[in-house]
Amino acid sequence: MAESVESFKNRINHVVIDGFLTYGLAIGHQLRLFDTMAEFDEFESIDTIARKANCKARYIEEWLKMMVVSHVVEIDPTETKYFLPTHRRPALVSTTSSCSFDLSLIPVITLHHEGLLECFKTNGPYCLTPPAKVDEIIGSRTTNEYWQYVLDQVFKPYAPEFQSDLERGVSFCDMGCASGTLVLFLARLFHNSKFVGIDIVSDYIDQAKAKSNCQHNAEFFIGNVMEAETTARFSVQFDYILMSLVFHDLEQPLKAAKEMWHMLKPGGRVLLLEFDMESSVRENAAVPQTTVLYGYSLYYCLSSALLSENSQCLGTVAGKGKFKSLLTEAGFRMINVYSIGDENRTLLVVAEK
Ligand SMILES: C[S@@+](CC[C@H](N)C(=O)[O-])C[C@H]1O[C@@H](n2cnc3c(N)ncnc32)[C@H](O)[C@@H]1O
Repeated sequence: MAESVESFKNRINHVVIDGFLTYGLAIGHQLRLFDTMAEFDEFESIDTIARKANCKARYIEEWLKMMVVSHVVEIDPTETKYFLPTHRRPALVSTTSSCSFDLSLIPVITLHHEGLLECFKTNGPYCLTPPAKVDEIIGSRTTNEYWQYVLDQVFKPYAPEFQSDLERGVSFCDMGCASGTLVLFLARLFHNSKFVGIDIVSDYIDQAKAKSNCQHNAEFFIGNVMEAETTARFSVQFDYILMSLVFHDLEQPLKAAKEMWHMLKPGGRVLLLEFDMESSVRENAAVPQTTVLYGYSLYYCLSSALLSENSQCLGTVAGKGKFKSLLTEAGFRMINVYSIGDENRTLLVVAEK
């Protein structure tokens, strides 16, 4: 049936309502109010909930009522007590919610909304500095458990030689390593290999060094993958260079791909971990999460990497074809692109020098 004027208007009204609800859910998530409510087996008063959550009763009251009218929390017939039904808890409490990451990110990534509006304008700036907390939240996702999952579910089935090479002894670089979680995770597992972490942000490298506790096979350096001063120092040094969720953020991805080609030994490989999206907007429209990825793109990728008219930042929804064509142009051969098919929409790109 064709979409009517009324039905579309209704849909947009619901989107706006849910937009406010998103912020209400974020408050509940960030202040652990859902976790607090999940500790109660029966309806409880505002004061009891507020005391347990260590929050002011008046704010809790307003928030609880918002959750009731949104059909998240239930209220008793006297309208004085509140309860979070058991079947709603898995979607909301911090240990089991699959939305935890986005609920933490949305309020922070949109902090510079006004600045983003200026970036859109012809006479406005090209980019701005995203709030530092955004990086912190993004970084919090890639824990040791996450990397163990990537080893088992991504590399083992799609690049099985990776693990055996690390066991045998190779040189590996994590480009855009942030605070070094992956480098230290691998360095502690594979003692015969040498691991290098490089990041453009000096604070991250300081944190990585502090965490490393003099791990004998791990080193960290400040550097920009698009700058010759960084890459010349590591010329023809690595068997593997991995880039996890970095390539699509770069101002000049082709330049970065060429620099990585120079940093690899002959036969060395670049491994990109990216979002698994198509290049066709119509095909991506069938995937609801694409809206979220465009949100990341606007509020984070473009607004931190679009430095000038000539910037080529790909954004999160570049599509797998784009990675292949840029790597081919940079001189790589045998480029394989694997869709992992998991809930993170992980894409693995393996390209050989
Ligand atoms: C989204 S974070 C991903 C961090 C990490 N790879 C992970 O998967 O958790 C992007 C990282 O790339 C780094 N980065 C951005 N541009 C860079 C560049 N030109 N050279 C090196 N690192 C860069 C950022 O500082 C940040 O730590």
